[in-house]
Amino acid sequence: MQNLTSIIALDGPAASGKSTLGRRLADELGYLFFDTGIMYRAITWIALQQDMNLKDEAAITKLAAQAQIDIRPPSKSDGRACDVVIAERDVTWDMRGGDVDANVSVVSAYAGVRKALSEHQRRIGLRGKVVMVGRDIGTVVLPEANIKIYLDASAEERARRRFDEIIARGEKADYDEILKKVIERDHIDSTRAVAPLRPADDAVIIDSDKMDADQVFARVMELCK
Ligand code: DC
Repeated sequence: MQNLTSIIALDGPAASGKSTLGRRLADELGYLFFDTGIMYRAITWIALQQDMNLKDEAAITKLAAQAQIDIRPPSKSDGRACDVVIAERDVTWDMRGGDVDANVSVVSAYAGVRKALSEHQRRIGLRGKVVMVGRDIGTVVLPEANIKIYLDASAEERARRRFDEIIARGEKADYDEILKKVIERDHIDSTRAVAPLRPADDAVIIDSDKMDADQVFARVMELCK
């Protein structure tokens, strides 16, 4: 394919479908898919594992600067985009658990944590041929991205998608509880002092409330051409 861009920044709130879209784009274009949320989740997971006080900003910041998070090609085809390995333990799915979900917004609001992780992300992104997914990629990590997408959807729609995913896995879910958590995370992510969730001025905002995954993908491919 010709005339394709090299850095695609894909931001948006929790459960807006960024990862699904980002993986598909990266596959189609032969680019690296990089989900930056993994890094914030990994730091949160380690802190919980070590029983650290999550309110201790200095200690969590030190952890973020020193942690060895290994991201490797997927070793299993169970829906993962990559393996996340910490101290030789595969924590890919542990990081998606309720404990991490409940605490990751607090950890990712710390300025020092953001600095350590976003510098790392920037180094990887500047190599190009990358679809980088997060909250602040177009605004802070890679403001020079060739294409910036802000994928949005209402909290109700995002909660409904999360609910459907959980039910499809055969697990139990409570829609109202999920909606409450989605709203809580939106609030923390978008009101934090450093790198709050917001569309870059030059981002294309796509509201996926009334679009399915194929339509969103087609729209973004159009933008890439
Ligand atoms: O996309 P996710 O749900 O895996 O992200 C987990 C958390 O990390 C989320 O609460 C916001 C934070 N995050 C962030 O602040 N900046 C990013 N670039 C990516 C994620």
